[in-house]
Amino acid sequence: MIIAIEGCAHGELDQIYRSVENLSRQRNAKVDLLICCGDFQAVRNENDLQCMAVPEKFRQICTFHKYYSGELRAPVLTLFIGGNHEASNYLQELAYGGWVAPNIYYLGYAGVVKFGGIRIAGISGIFKGHDYLKGHFEKPPYTNGTMRSVYHVRNLEVFRLKQLKEDIDIFLSHDWPRGIYNYADTGELLHWKPFFRDEIANNVLGSQANESLLHEVKPKYWFAAHLHCRFAATVQHNETQSTHFLALDKCLPRRQYLELIEVPHNASQTLELCYDPHWLAILRSTNHLLSVHPTTQYMPSGGPGCRERYEFYPTEEEMGDVKTIFNDDYRIPLNFSQTAEPFRPRPNYNRNARQAEPQLNPQTTELCKKLGIDDPLEKLIGKPTIVSTPVFNPDEITLELDDEEEQLDEQPEKAIPVDSNEFFIVDTKPQKRSKMSLPQPQNETLDDVPLCTEKGPVIEATNITSSTEQVTEDDLPSTIKKFKRRNQALYVDPENSS
Ligand SMILES: [Fe+2]
Repeated sequence: MIIAIEGCAHGELDQIYRSVENLSRQRNAKVDLLICCGDFQAVRNENDLQCMAVPEKFRQICTFHKYYSGELRAPVLTLFIGGNHEASNYLQELAYGGWVAPNIYYLGYAGVVKFGGIRIAGISGIFKGHDYLKGHFEKPPYTNGTMRSVYHVRNLEVFRLKQLKEDIDIFLSHDWPRGIYNYADTGELLHWKPFFRDEIANNVLGSQANESLLHEVKPKYWFAAHLHCRFAATVQHNETQSTHFLALDKCLPRRQYLELIEVPHNASQTLELCYDPHWLAILRSTNHLLSVHPTTQYMPSGGPGCRERYEFYPTEEEMGDVKTIFNDDYRIPLNFSQTAEPFRPRPNYNRNARQAEPQLNPQTTELCKKLGIDDPLEKLIGKPTIVSTPVFNPDEITLELDDEEEQLDEQPEKAIPVDSNEFFIVDTKPQKRSKMSLPQPQNETLDDVPLCTEKGPVIEATNITSSTEQVTEDDLPSTIKKFKRRNQALYVDPENSS
């Protein structure tokens, strides 16, 4: 199967789907699945916008609402994890994953799904040590503090993922595993990104949680985003196991934000998104560890004095229970429904709307009931609030149709040279030398691709040339500058470090 991997999305779904279409046409390859590595910005309306951690003047409604309302349908099955610029109130509805729009699936705080038999695991958010041991205590309306801590990775999710042991094909994170730069030519990375020097020297660039997951889970591939550059490395765990790591840029002209990979799979398996029974069993057996308090909670370690269970790799009995519950049918139901009014496009929309109220999502309620586990949000806010908006399923209708991130964007844009690599689909053109073992870039050049302007409708960017033609910012038409400036501004956030 062919999987398209995208870095930070930043609400530019229209552009990303056009890029996927163009790239699949260029490569003569049908893309079966699109994976976005965070900063997805599933903003449904003005109230969601107020729940996203970005400076006020840069809150932009972007394009997701069209896919949520049913005006457009995602042309390719899309899977994503959360980053540090999200409509966190909406993602909190789907703690264990769910459809945020028809054909667009969020993996949850952490999650594992299967697609055509390929096992995909991931974790949302970014690592911050000061929140790592806390429960999921945040709820909208957020304070300035909780609007940021809500997307900080917690030890519960890392603990659960570590129970998987191995056999993960693809792992997704928003921030990089700490130390990943030691598995490629760091000198070359620093040549292109010199402002990483101190963090690499002090070994603080990236997530400690992801670093430990990388070395315990040992997935075949690991995809990430957040630092706004393309970087590849290979981690050789032992004689037989290795992880191919690839970080991608964000969706902007001339950036390397899109890549195709071909993953062999059993052709007898249908290309449908399915739950992973091992993960479901782990969710069940670790439900008692869920905390919704801001106090410190350690996970059981098996150390001296530990009398509780500390290993949760599912037993045969636990797997049998899951099999019975699901009748051995793990296909994820197409049960998307709206839980808030979609945005009604108008030129001067309310940028000072109130934050959304917390809302339980029927998808999570259904899954939790089935598994006999707690919905973290329900644990926080109590029994179901009434869904106040009409619920419909567009699948059933026929359509006619961080600080550092800011610094990164201020750096002069240089393309990192790359070599071909056997595990990615590559160009056959010879490349210039590189000490790094990087896959060939497959990023969309944006030639002949319509772009979104800041406020208005899609325009044709006929004046944009490809990345190989060395255009400068001044060469771009004014509408394109708006596109650039708007995205740049998303990273002005004192909180958002790697
Ligand atoms: Fe990010």
